[in-house]
Amino acid sequence: MTSPVVDIYLTADHAEISLREDARLGLTSSPKWLPSKWFYDARGSELFEEITRLPEYYPTRAERSILVTHAGDIARRTGAHTLVELGSGSSEKTRLLLGAMRAEGTLREYVPLDVSETALRDAIAGMHEGFPMLAIHAVVGDFTKHLDRIPGQAPRMVAFLGGTIGNLFPDERATFLSELHETLAPGDWLLLGTDLVKDPGVLVPAYDDAAGITAEFNRNVLAVLNRELGGDFDIENYEHVALWDSENEWIEMRLRSTAAAKVTLSELALDIVLEAGEEIRTEISAKFRRKGVERELATAGFGLDSWWTDPEGRFALSLARAR
Ligand code: AVJ
Repeated sequence: MTSPVVDIYLTADHAEISLREDARLGLTSSPKWLPSKWFYDARGSELFEEITRLPEYYPTRAERSILVTHAGDIARRTGAHTLVELGSGSSEKTRLLLGAMRAEGTLREYVPLDVSETALRDAIAGMHEGFPMLAIHAVVGDFTKHLDRIPGQAPRMVAFLGGTIGNLFPDERATFLSELHETLAPGDWLLLGTDLVKDPGVLVPAYDDAAGITAEFNRNVLAVLNRELGGDFDIENYEHVALWDSENEWIEMRLRSTAAAKVTLSELALDIVLEAGEEIRTEISAKFRRKGVERELATAGFGLDSWWTDPEGRFALSLARAR
C-alpha cells in the first residue's frame, strides 16, 4: 500500500479571507447575496447528508442509480487510468466508479479534490479499505481556482457529480468548463452530473422539504457568518424561500428577514440593514436539458460521447471527451 500524497493549495487562511471578501461584497450588494459554498461547514455538510436521504430530494438517488447501471460502460468507454473527483463527494458513488475501473483493469490512481482537508482525509481513509492497492493523490483546492494543479496519468477521467455545476451561473460554468478543458489532454474525459428540468411540483419540494431540513441547511450559512465573522444574525428571524425561476430554469434559495434588522459583522467592522421582508439569495441550482448540456460542453471543447438518465428521466450523466 502506497501512502497517499496530499497537495495543499488552500489554507484555513485562504478560506477565511475569501469568506470575508464574499460576505462584504454580497451583503453590501442590492439585492443581497451569499455564495452557496459557505453552507458547508461541519454542520452544513451533515445537513446536506440528511437532505440526500429525504423523500423529496431525488437527485442523489437518481444519479446513484445511473452509476449502478452504467459504471461498467463508463470504465470500458474511457479506459481511464486516473479518476479525478471534483468535490470529493459521496464515497459510495466514487466506489462504484473505482470498482468498475478496477474490473476493467485500467485503474491506477484516485485524485480527489476538495476545499476541505478534513473531508479529503476522511475520503482517503475510507477508500483505502476497499482499494488497498490504489495510489491516492489528494488535492486541497478550489475547483474554480486550482484545476491546473490536477495530477494523474492519462487518460484521466474527471468526475463532477451531484449536479454541483448547477450552483454556478452560466458565465461561471463556461469559464469553469473551458479552464478544465485547458488543463486536460485530448482524449481525457469528463463525467458530468446534471439535474434536469422537470415539473416545478417536483423540483420545488426537493428544495423545500416537509421536514424543514433544507430550511435549516439554508439558515446554517448565517450561523457560519455569526461564528466566523462575529455576526449577530437572529437566525430564527429568517425564513427559507425556494422558488423556481422558469426563465433561467434554476431553483433559487433565499433567506427572508421577517423583521427589519441591523446586523453587525464585527470582524468586518460592517453594519448591514435589512428591511422587513428583504431577501438574501443564498443559492442557485440550475436544471438542464440535453441540448443545453451538449452545447455548453461543445463550446468548451468537449464532445458528448454518452448521455444516460435514470429510468424516470430526472437526472443525467454525460460522458464527454476532450478534443
Ligand atoms: C450539492 C449543490 C448539488 O444544488 O441540489 C441541496 C445543494 N441545496 N439542497 C443542489 C442543495 C439545497 C445541492 N448540490
